[in-house]
Amino acid sequence: MSVVPDNVLALTQGQVTLSREDLRRVHGQMQRFMLGYEFGLREIETKLSILRDEFTHMHDYNPIEHVTSRVKSVDSIMAKVSRRGLPADLEVIRDNITDIAGVRVTCSFVQDAYRLFDLLTEQDDVTVRTVKDYIATPKANGYKSLHAIVEVPVFLSDGAVDIPVEVQFRTIAMDFWASLEHKIYYKYDGQVPSELVAELGEAAATAAALDERMERLHRELRG
Ligand code: GTP
Ligand code: MG
Repeated sequence: MSVVPDNVLALTQGQVTLSREDLRRVHGQMQRFMLGYEFGLREIETKLSILRDEFTHMHDYNPIEHVTSRVKSVDSIMAKVSRRGLPADLEVIRDNITDIAGVRVTCSFVQDAYRLFDLLTEQDDVTVRTVKDYIATPKANGYKSLHAIVEVPVFLSDGAVDIPVEVQFRTIAMDFWASLEHKIYYKYDGQVPSELVAELGEAAATAAALDERMERLHRELRG
């Protein structure tokens, strides 16, 4: 039996041995790292809420139905890091795991999803890293949404950090579909029976047809 000195803790997999001081330092670094994402999220949420209020004021119209957001848990970040075979290095994680902070903007109409994307990404302090337009090109299963990884600076006492935030823009119908598909996918552990896959495909087409119809009605109403 090996004797571990009192001030030393052995970490998982027996690969690393850290002193209590090391452990405290790593914990502090991790907390600070996660806090950056909380702040990045707040910046984006504030921008969206200003856009919504200004839009409502100027155009007497609110293009946002609702906004939800989350910061990934440390456990899911680490699971993704090991799935991707990345080293547990904070800089590497920041560069490679771009959905630690996530915001979902549910809009009334397809046109609003694009308009909000433009209004957010045109802002001087928002840098677009990648865009995936699954509205123009839906996934094979029928998934639709406009995804952007943006970077926003967060100003801390010792300087600015650019924080990546994943922003998803979608309509209520797309959101309805995606949340059901997500539940089905998890229930079947990714192995969804083919009849259900086909039915989800049809449901996605129905949702898209509804979006089109509602948008047409809305246009007629607003002139
Ligand atoms: P992840 O590593 O899973 O984040 O995917 P990715 O890096 O390939 O990015 P992508 O833009 O394809 O997907 C990012 C996020 O979009 C996912 O985490 C989900 O929130 C959502 N998403 C993508 N595809 C689907 C899908 O088929 N169904 C549902 N319900 N959500 C999806
Ligand atoms: Mg993701």
